[in-house]
Amino acid sequence: MKLDKIEHIGIAVKDISEVSRFYKDVFDCQISEEMNVPDRKLRIAFTDISGVKLEFVMPTDKESVVAKFIDKRGEGIHHVCFEVDDVEKATAELKDKGVELVDDKPRLGAEGKKIIFLKPKSTHGVLIELKER
Ligand code: CO
Repeated sequence: MKLDKIEHIGIAVKDISEVSRFYKDVFDCQISEEMNVPDRKLRIAFTDISGVKLEFVMPTDKESVVAKFIDKRGEGIHHVCFEVDDVEKATAELKDKGVELVDDKPRLGAEGKKIIFLKPKSTHGVLIELKER
């Protein structure tokens, strides 16, 4: 499989409004509407920086995996998302190559595109998200 560009970098945050304000004030970024992702117990917002986005990811419940991430490691870079042609095909290929996935099959992300996450222990420490173009 071929990775296309970095689609976004996910940043775990405690207070999404405060972070949005920071990026607006300091870097003059335009921030998207905040979106809830109820099945993951998350609230997210994006900012686009010349085609590479930052995704602010705030847990809405202390049981969220991102809440656990912040508890353990603090706020900061959480995942890197690459664009690929075909997430179903990529998933099959990853399974063939023995790469461990967070979910068994792709699901729809907040923007309605297919996504899959690769476990960091399979990727030398980086939580990788693949997103369909
Ligand atoms: Co993401």
